[in-house]
Amino acid sequence: MKTIMVTGGAGFIGSNFARMMLEKYPEYHVLVYDKLTYAGNPENVRDLNDNPRFLFIAGDIADADKVESTIQEFGVDAIVNFAAETHVDRSIMDPGSFIQTNVFGVYTLLEATRKLGVERMLHVSTDEVYGAVHEGSSTEEDRLEPRSPYSASKASGDLLCRAYHVTHGTHVMVTRGSNTYGPRQYPEKLLPLFITNALEDKHLPVYGDGKYVRDWMYVLDHCAGIDLVLHNGQAGEIYNVGGGNERENMTVIYAILDLLDKPRTLIHYVKDRPGHDLRYSVDTTKLEKLGWSPRWSLEDGLRETVDWYKHNREWWEKIKSGEFAEYYAKMYGQREVLAKHS
Ligand code: NAD
Ligand code: TYD
Repeated sequence: MKTIMVTGGAGFIGSNFARMMLEKYPEYHVLVYDKLTYAGNPENVRDLNDNPRFLFIAGDIADADKVESTIQEFGVDAIVNFAAETHVDRSIMDPGSFIQTNVFGVYTLLEATRKLGVERMLHVSTDEVYGAVHEGSSTEEDRLEPRSPYSASKASGDLLCRAYHVTHGTHVMVTRGSNTYGPRQYPEKLLPLFITNALEDKHLPVYGDGKYVRDWMYVLDHCAGIDLVLHNGQAGEIYNVGGGNERENMTVIYAILDLLDKPRTLIHYVKDRPGHDLRYSVDTTKLEKLGWSPRWSLEDGLRETVDWYKHNREWWEKIKSGEFAEYYAKMYGQREVLAKHS
């Protein structure tokens, strides 16, 4: 493997992954292919532009001609697909783009991989495809019971990967990661939204009672898991990736406020997300057997992340004053405040 096409590499996890590949493998070329939607940001890979082994191409994964000509022109050996519409709340408001990218786009990449004989493809998926987990942890064999338009579209992409492997012998692997956080995450997700709101002394809109549980994983742990599967995973297999840090939302929110030395009175409990999944939890035994384990504690990861947002105000202030402001007004403006934290 010499040339890796990182689709969605101008987003949060993909940009961290592209950087990690260039640093770790001095012989690799990394080609970021990204549509630059609202979540894609050229700033995320700006520091890589001087590297002669890095290239950025603007393109849509659902555009078969562009995907195929890019693969041919640059002799792509492997595709790692991060490109997706990723925010559950947006999928409730406007699901069309989720189906287009997360289903049709994945099909387009699989078809190009098959037709052009790309050596391997890794599709980055999510633990949300298992649906809400009331007890225990999801293994890779568990039923897919997605409950939001986002998770249903991701599950559809996973099933297409399986079908291409079974039917055509396509060398494709799937990873299912848990809630990821760290530098360069678009400030619509819980952690970056609440860190940046707190830095601006704005309210933190907690859905429902805040007792929902997520497994939090630092982005470099997630990228390391994907790297291992890309190199050592087996074709047709699925691998869960998780941080081993299950916490109720309120625990993480209090930790952020404490790190920033901000008062709990910033917390507003607001009307819940429809169909809100109570808990996610993944069993990561299969990936651990390949030699992976998470290195970052939640405490260290949160400190690092909070520091990054503190020192990179320009990055997120620019985002929050653009398209985001409109989104925020639409998503949160009508949301009834149920209680205020004292
Ligand atoms: P993100 O929203 O930060 O970035 C997504 C990127 O994909 C953006 O750069 C965007 O421009 C690009 N993109 C969107 N549609 C595209 C298209 N049609 N063609 C080409 N590029 C397109 O997302 P993220 O948080 O970095 O997530 C990356 C992947 O990891 C996604 O597949 C997501 O489902 C998965 N994942 C994310 C998390 C998480 O907590 N963030 C957890 C598990 C899995
Ligand atoms: P999010 O970051 O959207 O990730 P996901 O829903 O894909 O797990 O949300 C994480 C948790 O935080 C989830 O339980 C919903 C909750 N949440 C809030 O309470 N308020 C918010 O404004 C957001 C964005 C999320």
